[in-house]
Amino acid sequence: MRLDIITCLPELFDGPMNQSIVKRSMEKGLVDIQIHNLRDYSTDKHKKVDDYAFGGGAGMVLSIEPIDACITKLKENVTYNEVIYLTPDGETFNQSMANTLSLNKNLILLCGHYKGVDQRVREHLVTKEISIGDYVLSGGELAAMVLADSLIRLIPGVLNDESSALSDSFQDDLLAPPVYTRPADYKGWKVPEILTSGHESNVEEWRNEQALERTKKRRPDLLE
Ligand code: 6GU
Repeated sequence: MRLDIITCLPELFDGPMNQSIVKRSMEKGLVDIQIHNLRDYSTDKHKKVDDYAFGGGAGMVLSIEPIDACITKLKENVTYNEVIYLTPDGETFNQSMANTLSLNKNLILLCGHYKGVDQRVREHLVTKEISIGDYVLSGGELAAMVLADSLIRLIPGVLNDESSALSDSFQDDLLAPPVYTRPADYKGWKVPEILTSGHESNVEEWRNEQALERTKKRRPDLLE
């Protein structure tokens, strides 16, 4: 999978995109993440990428020219499945969208900032608008990283134990069951006996019960 991320704050991606699973997936050649600085596509002599909103009001709006220039340049070399704009008024992201999007080969992620982007970008250049939840972030960068991480871990070969993505919370609309590791008894706080019994099918059954129980208690909406 190739991810081209367009942002005016490229430095934000230095840390998170170079850690653990994401880093390993890039080293294995399974993922190619390219960060593009929107300022590099500004024709303005001060590298300006935003302007005042027509009609007035507080906050700057990202201009269409540098965004179009950047996307047009990217499209010269690659055919993209989607151009995704990260925005709090987009479709709320969930595991089912992550599963679908993880099957794509090439994606552009456009990070908005300030007051957002010129509406014409959304109407003519963007194919999908995604929010990561009902709260406001300062920009789309953190949302793009959340999206990227959730897609990358679903790509076959990225996780060492490929079945582990399947047992994640939400993957079957259930929260994941509790997990334990050694010691089996810590200060008298014991691990459920069934897990140390060696009965594989009983363990499986217990995990299913626990997953259902947790979901009923914490996220009954997932069961509707
Ligand atoms: Cl995608 N962007 C911003 N700025 N805030 C958000 C978001 C995105 N998703 C939730 N809040």
